[in-house]
Amino acid sequence: MAEHESALVAAAYAAAEKAYAPYSNYPVGAALLFDDGAVITGCNVENASYGLALCAETVAVAKAFEAGRRGGLVAVAVVGLKAGDEPITPCGRCRQVLNEVAALGGTDPLVLCVGQEQVRQVPLSTLLPHAFGPSNLEG
Ligand code: THU
Repeated sequence: MAEHESALVAAAYAAAEKAYAPYSNYPVGAALLFDDGAVITGCNVENASYGLALCAETVAVAKAFEAGRRGGLVAVAVVGLKAGDEPITPCGRCRQVLNEVAALGGTDPLVLCVGQEQVRQVPLSTLLPHAFGPSNLEG
């Protein structure tokens, strides 16, 4: 892994440490890297009404929009502190949410899916082929 990728994974781990996951006991952290070097992180936030849990990636994307980001997403790291050997991959909803910010800037971010023994690097377009996005609503 390149140095900036290791730093992105480290940022995702730091975010996962802040997760509020008392129900699943499955803390997740996500870190988004933008083309100007900025990193925006998120952690999962669960709720006593279980189905209302917010995923780490979605929290990170919401923070990115609030920070004024509209594209420029080049990489994403996702870590689960309780993940096993199999690297954690973003859930279906998170793939779609990540696609929105990626599509706005015309990028195909590399998603670093972190496991205990390996980091699987997959383009978002591979995780979410034939994605529905902003362009579908044009015209
Ligand atoms: N979770 C995420 O934060 N991101 C994902 O992509 C998969 C799942 C969270 C949701 C819930 O708080 C916990 O992991 C267990 O599903």
